[in-house]
Amino acid sequence: AKTVYTIPVVFHIVMSNPNQVTDAQIQQQLDILNADFAGENSDSTKIPEYFKSLFGKSSIQFSLAQRTESGDPTTGIERVTTTKSSFSSNTNDVKYTASKGVDSWDPDKYFNVWICAITATTSGSILGYATFPGDLPAVEQGVVIDYRTLPGKSYTGYTDFEGGRTLTHETGHYFNLFHIWGDDDGACTGSDYVEDTPDQADASSKCNSGVIHDNCTSDGNGIMYQNYMDYSYDACLVMFTAGQISRMEAAVIAYRSSLLT
Ligand code: ARG
Ligand code: ZN
Ligand code: CA
Repeated sequence: AKTVYTIPVVFHIVMSNPNQVTDAQIQQQLDILNADFAGENSDSTKIPEYFKSLFGKSSIQFSLAQRTESGDPTTGIERVTTTKSSFSSNTNDVKYTASKGVDSWDPDKYFNVWICAITATTSGSILGYATFPGDLPAVEQGVVIDYRTLPGKSYTGYTDFEGGRTLTHETGHYFNLFHIWGDDDGACTGSDYVEDTPDQADASSKCNSGVIHDNCTSDGNGIMYQNYMDYSYDACLVMFTAGQISRMEAAVIAYRSSLLT
């Protein structure tokens, strides 16, 4: 059997009313993350026949931290009351106690996930953002997601993004995955450095159906808008490929092995 990589997670809920996010919601979110990584998500039935052979199943799993840095018992869920109504994604204020956020727990020992209200920009709301392996400063390593992307509740403007897939997507970045379209604004020169994902011109949106061809993949089965590293609605993101899983598992060994318990 394949070795399971268990990653301890700490959720830092940093809000003016952090109790708005319940433990049950966090558990639900964690279950979705684990199912998505394991390829056990029940909506994998949405993967079209022609992409089924590419469906990846990872042995990376996540569990709530059971000990704090000083060795005390913890639920792995930390609630912090802040006077800031939202945190900009241009600064990392949410990641520092000194700027009304909260400091990470040792990023070599924990996968830090901050949950807060993220300030919208002129181009719209930000669902989440992540660090890639090696990004500095190390204390900022982890993922930030907006609390309105958590499963279990309905918030105006977020109803298509409350399936828990924002955390799945951001965690992909944390394990070194790039966007499936290669972030090249349609040029077809960029790459996600994964062999089994079709080339793709730009981000997808909403929910698509059927075979879609674009400038970068003009034949065959088309682009893979069902991929977690695309920008479709949560209900339509249902898979990582085997190649993406290999890249993430390689990143665990190369960059994040100190997290393994
Ligand atoms: N915009 C974010 C990013 O690039 C998150 C996108 C998440 N998409 C979703 N359907 N939940 O990291
Ligand atoms: Zn992304
Ligand atoms: Ca590719």
